[in-house]
Amino acid sequence: MMAVPVRLASSLALPLVLLPLLLASACDRCVHHSKAAYYTSKLTLNGGSCGYGAAAASFSSGFLAAASPALFRDGVGCGACLQVRCKDKKLCAASGARVVVTDRARTNRTDLVLSSPAFAAMARPGMAARLNKLRTVDVEYKRVPCEYKDKNLSVRVEEKSRAPNELSIRFLYQGGQTDIVAVDVAQVGSSNWKFMTREYGPAWSTTQAPPGPLQFRVVVTGGYDGKWVWADREVLPRRWRAGEVYDTGVQINDIAQEGCFPCDTQDWK
Ligand SMILES: *[C@@H]1O[C@H](CO)[C@@H](O)[C@H](O)[C@H]1NC(C)=O
Ligand SMILES: *[C@@H]1O[C@H](CO)[C@@H](O)[C@H](O)[C@H]1NC(C)=O
Repeated sequence: MMAVPVRLASSLALPLVLLPLLLASACDRCVHHSKAAYYTSKLTLNGGSCGYGAAAASFSSGFLAAASPALFRDGVGCGACLQVRCKDKKLCAASGARVVVTDRARTNRTDLVLSSPAFAAMARPGMAARLNKLRTVDVEYKRVPCEYKDKNLSVRVEEKSRAPNELSIRFLYQGGQTDIVAVDVAQVGSSNWKFMTREYGPAWSTTQAPPGPLQFRVVVTGGYDGKWVWADREVLPRRWRAGEVYDTGVQINDIAQEGCFPCDTQDWK
């Protein structure tokens, strides 16, 4: 499936209208019922499979989650935001906690393994200690848009990049409720776009990066809707450096259009 949008991205001629036919609708706004546990170690999720490293601590106040294979989707689920709440009405608040997926769960006993602050945040005031003692609880969760009010979509140039041609980037602060399914890079002012290949999760790379300064465009999609998001200004400077984080100057806030009947009509009461 991944090959299709990547090919689309490298060809301006193909309309995005084709995407909906090719992408299965997961209807991830629906409320799911499952269980959640938590990690006692903070490091696990920060150093999770999505590769965000220390940057993960700044996502959603460190409310992070390792997700089951169905949610993690081989890394495509990295950076997705979920609202999760536990069902014990005595211990748990109705609003629950908003978490960001940064890791793959290494268990299949629960759909989610939360960071301990996120787990505790599901509790009613004063109930966190009692909730923690349970270690695993029944929860319901749904995907929600990510909001990074004071961050634009950013790219971190990964350490293994070698200027000028070997470029590997990782997206940080991906807002909205869509997946990035294709990434192109070009020199600023040029329309000679080179497609990048998804390495894993939020990391994309190419061995044919044009000389800087560089601009990017990405396709975001989900459900039956896809569109280009353009960062058509200097994102990476002429002399970009491995290890640096660069602001794209854009915020993604799209929400995938999906036919989710009947779950669309179910409210999070
Ligand atoms: C998932 O569950 C199956 C049995 O239902 C088990 O064989 C498998 O090892 C489990 N996988 C993990 C990662 O725990
Ligand atoms: C986001 O990008 C815009 C330019 O598009 C810029 O004006 C703004 O300062 C950026 N926001 C942050 C938080 O860096």
